[in-house]
Amino acid sequence: MKILVTGGTGYIGSHTAVELQQEGFEVVIVDNLSNSSAGVIDSITAITGIRPVLEVFDLADYKKTMDFFQRHSDIQGIIHFAAYKAVGESVEQPLMYYRNNLVSLMNILEAMNSQQIPNLVFSSSCTVYGQPDELPVSEQAAVKKAESPYGNTKQISEEIISDTIRTSGLKAIALRYFNPIGAHPTALIGELPLGVPNNLMPFITQTAIGIRPQLRVFGNDYNTPDGTAIRDYIHVVDLAKAHVISVQRMIQSRMKKPFEIFNLGTGIGYSVMDVIRSFEKVSGERLNYIVVDRREGDVEQVWANPQWSNTELGWKAEKNLDEMTYSAWKWEQAYKKRSRKQ
Ligand code: UD1
Repeated sequence: MKILVTGGTGYIGSHTAVELQQEGFEVVIVDNLSNSSAGVIDSITAITGIRPVLEVFDLADYKKTMDFFQRHSDIQGIIHFAAYKAVGESVEQPLMYYRNNLVSLMNILEAMNSQQIPNLVFSSSCTVYGQPDELPVSEQAAVKKAESPYGNTKQISEEIISDTIRTSGLKAIALRYFNPIGAHPTALIGELPLGVPNNLMPFITQTAIGIRPQLRVFGNDYNTPDGTAIRDYIHVVDLAKAHVISVQRMIQSRMKKPFEIFNLGTGIGYSVMDVIRSFEKVSGERLNYIVVDRREGDVEQVWANPQWSNTELGWKAEKNLDEMTYSAWKWEQAYKKRSRKQ
């Protein structure tokens, strides 16, 4: 059974491609390589023994997208990761974000309609909840006004999907991720941000390995036990598995309604200091960090109520924080070793 993974050479996409192949799916990847490299295909192949097909083009290109789907009309389902994801950059370049994230989604939906491909898994985010009124946050929580154009593209995308489904035979599952971190246990694939990382985990590992001089902890005056902000960190392999389960749910017609939404988190909130301490413990390294002012646009605390995913989707995150930080560190070290050899 052929599954298209858009953005499949990226961080979450590559881990999902591996899990799909290991469950017996045939994987086709489309990626424009704007934030990843084709070498990831070799790593996926090394892990699974199966080489996924890669087509390099931009899904915001209507003609190329339609042409691709005509050639691959036997695709049974699509997992759509391909999107820009840097919050700060989206504030600087909103149109680039709207064009890329929304046009590619619309092209895909149109192709799904014309080729009668019924199943879509969409990569959404807990950012749609903003700072929720109640914690933990369930799927029923209100969608708050987006803090950034990036966040807005996730909200609008969910609406575009919902409206499209109403008038077509399509089905979709939106997965709202909390904070994915960590890497594959083989350390062959992991998070590889271009330039200076925005996110906490890659900044920690890059600081520890000497690429960055110092981690800045954004604020220790939040209303949390240690004053630093709280997030629900989830291992990327756990996250990837939820995508495979979602595809199976759609293909086996187990959906309760044509558009379903699930939170993907562990249900446990950890502070920035908890993550630093876990990292120091598993790596044996002392991390050079300094507390600075809060980062604009950050919410104070958010963690998931994963009950609905656990019971209805039949998925549960299994890996704990130490396993996440350990795998992220192994990946950073393995990447350094490989880069030295080249
Ligand atoms: C953000 C977005 C999320 C998006 C994700 C991917 C929001 C609210 N969240 O997550 O939707 O999917 O990025 O890019 O917009 N931190 C530091 N120092 C650093 C980096 C981060 O202290 O150098 C802190 C942050 O202040 C935050 C925590 O670490 O409290 C996690 O930050 P990060 O990894 O950037 O993720 P989010 O901001 O939660």
